[in-house]
Amino acid sequence: MTRHFLNLGDAGAASVRAMLTDAQTRKLARAGWSKGRVDADAPLAGHVLAMIFEKNSTRTRVSFDMAMRQLGGSAIVMEAGGMQLGRGETIADTARVLSRMVDAIMIRTDDHAKIEELSAYADVPVINGLTDQSHPCQIMADLLTLAERGVLKPGMEMAWLGDGNNVLHSLIEAAGLLGFNIRVGGPDGYDPDAGFVERARAAGAQIRFTRDPAEAANGAQVIVTDCWVSMGQEGGAAKVAAMSPYQVNEALMAHAAPNAVFLHCLPAHRGEEVTDAVIDGPNSAVWDEAENRIHAQKSVLRWALGQL
Ligand code: CP
Ligand code: NVA
Repeated sequence: MTRHFLNLGDAGAASVRAMLTDAQTRKLARAGWSKGRVDADAPLAGHVLAMIFEKNSTRTRVSFDMAMRQLGGSAIVMEAGGMQLGRGETIADTARVLSRMVDAIMIRTDDHAKIEELSAYADVPVINGLTDQSHPCQIMADLLTLAERGVLKPGMEMAWLGDGNNVLHSLIEAAGLLGFNIRVGGPDGYDPDAGFVERARAAGAQIRFTRDPAEAANGAQVIVTDCWVSMGQEGGAAKVAAMSPYQVNEALMAHAAPNAVFLHCLPAHRGEEVTDAVIDGPNSAVWDEAENRIHAQKSVLRWALGQL
């Protein structure tokens, strides 16, 4: 059966762990190499990934391209607006055609139903490069960053500050799969989707909510935030005002555990959800986190193509 990676649950806990192990091993094996050098075993030689972007991207675009190059394959990058998709060709027909031409498809889109439809008609793996619902590739990089620091363990205490968005949905899914806990500190009316929360709780993760940012951060080993207004959302002054008590600043970090790891998927809106002092400070792991998009996605690609 074709392996799609629309959400972390498509792979399951054992495969997520296998991908993280593979990513760590492969990253270490190429330490000090130039970034474009192909891994010794070139496991995706002869393979091509098509990438479709319906939204802006820096990290996802470059990291998937570099991932394919390092694995010995290559990538084609397309803006949806420049494709016939942008003129009304159906998602199903796009899936059928691309399945005859490339070995895997990565798409960044808005409505999650679009990626579900694409995967339903594609004979090759479809990978979620962000939808309004979730961002599983980002969370694979986050998990890799925490694993490298020895923090990723069952029972790990994570705090999320701010908007209940796509990135938080995938983090909650990861908590259910790997058995860690999340305290969500955010304003009333911006909680994450209840379905993700219920599934993670059913799997044994503790997902708690508080309107008090200090309570959310209290003793946490990992502090995570993201922009207050995601791509395609109507922001407005009201949302920013509601979010402002949840800014991750030095005072907030003082409530976390000593040496707590700060994560942010980026792009950051410095001075809004996070201050310079935190993102540039000693607890910040955001540049490793960004680099790890490459290493984590290499393993996602290998899993999707049946190599893990
Ligand atoms: N974190 C992330 O997905 O970044 P881009 O929007 O730049 O791809
Ligand atoms: N929540 C953000 C993540 C960007 C990588 C967005 O969807 O815009």
